[in-house]
Amino acid sequence: MMQPTSALLLVASLLAALPANADGLYTKKSPVIQVTQKNYDQLIANSNHTSIVEFYAPWCGHCQNLKPAYEKAAKNLDGLAKVAAVNCDDDANKPLCGRMGVQGFPTLKIMTPSKKPGKPRVEDYRGDRSAKAIVGAVVDRIPNHVKKVTDKNLEEWLSQDEESPKAILFTEKGTTSALIRALAIDFLGSVKVAQIRNKETEAVEKFGVTDFPALVLLPGGEKEHVVYDGELKKQPIIEFLSQVAAPNPDPAPAKPKDKSTKSSKSTTAGSRSSTVIDDQAENLKPTESPDPKVEDAPESKPAQVPIPAPPIDTLPTVEALEAACLQPKSGTCVLALLPEPSEPDADLPSPAKEAIVSLSEIAHKHAVRKSHLFPFYTVPAINSGAQTLRNGLGLAEGAQTVEIIALNGRRGWWRQYDPSDVADYSVTRVESWIDAIRLGEGSKAKLPDGIVVEAEPEKPAADHDEL
Ligand SMILES: *[C@@H]1O[C@H](CO)[C@@H](O)[C@H](O)[C@H]1NC(C)=O
Repeated sequence: MMQPTSALLLVASLLAALPANADGLYTKKSPVIQVTQKNYDQLIANSNHTSIVEFYAPWCGHCQNLKPAYEKAAKNLDGLAKVAAVNCDDDANKPLCGRMGVQGFPTLKIMTPSKKPGKPRVEDYRGDRSAKAIVGAVVDRIPNHVKKVTDKNLEEWLSQDEESPKAILFTEKGTTSALIRALAIDFLGSVKVAQIRNKETEAVEKFGVTDFPALVLLPGGEKEHVVYDGELKKQPIIEFLSQVAAPNPDPAPAKPKDKSTKSSKSTTAGSRSSTVIDDQAENLKPTESPDPKVEDAPESKPAQVPIPAPPIDTLPTVEALEAACLQPKSGTCVLALLPEPSEPDADLPSPAKEAIVSLSEIAHKHAVRKSHLFPFYTVPAINSGAQTLRNGLGLAEGAQTVEIIALNGRRGWWRQYDPSDVADYSVTRVESWIDAIRLGEGSKAKLPDGIVVEAEPEKPAADHDEL
């Protein structure tokens, strides 16, 4: 049996055998970037991104205490700014620590890029040593290269450098999020980025934006714009924007590594970091992409010729209806609740047929113009959840008639199309109703409880504020 002392000796010799960088506080898997005298200029001083750097010594108790909060800050700032640490106990780093005027451990400094490349503004961070406070201070210092535009000056902004790619974020907010600021930095010099508010209706209409926030990419020149409808997360947006230009070489985000085949899948850095922006994505944009066969429709006929539009999709089952439109994250859906047939296999009554044709034509028109529009579906009366929906919304009375409704699970509202006394389901009338929804006009009713199906288990809340 081993004596306690020899066990200790064994541990000690094992520790001594570990590679040198295990002497530092942060392991290779840590989301905190380990910076040395050698790579400081490349990773921090020459970066276009803001960094926070901790100068520490591994034996220092306050440094050890800071570690969990600092790693959490690093996860939350993933893709937005750099969170780094320099081990000042390592002889090789001592000149750097001396040059930075480090006199005690830990010393935290925020480096904000300035106009002079390689010469960031350096400030001591003296705030709380909590993840939240650190994240807040760093986010405040992320440079803003995002131009705020309005209906008035949009054209002017668009006409600058007409050939060069641009991206516009349509948002309900007046502030510029850390995410969009970080993206503008990644594409500094190649993609110009602007943001515009949802109330700028000319622009909203021009680009056919229906859900906010939305990111519109203009490849430049005569090329058609593209609306991004993926998750509002750093990595997929980088991929989206990379269609037109490569991002700058600076490795600010830790995320791109995930994509490579490095097989470091299990690192907490990679898997957890997405939650921060995820949390933002919650209120962002689960927009359905239109049926590809509709999207690819040829852009041929002049508008006045009636186009035989492909019919809109059907949600035949309760599950399909719930999955497409009744989730807590569902964006706007337009549903034509079909009437109960008078007898099995009976033809639909003509108002229902007219409603379907109108919706199909409107959807087709938008698909041809490639303007983004929320999805339209028909919901048959039987076995589809239509009856439950009618009951829940107080529409049970009219089960013999078609009912067109719009609802948005995420925002918790719904609207009912009013066909007027003469059961008008013409394209014109339906389309003006749709347009009002697109522009956020008119009144919305609150979705009664129980319509939206229960949320999946929530993700843990991020611990910093609105980006
Ligand atoms: C910083 O931005 C400039 C454009 O202003 C770009 O050319 C350069 O590559 C960027 N630097 C890094 C390290 O990404």
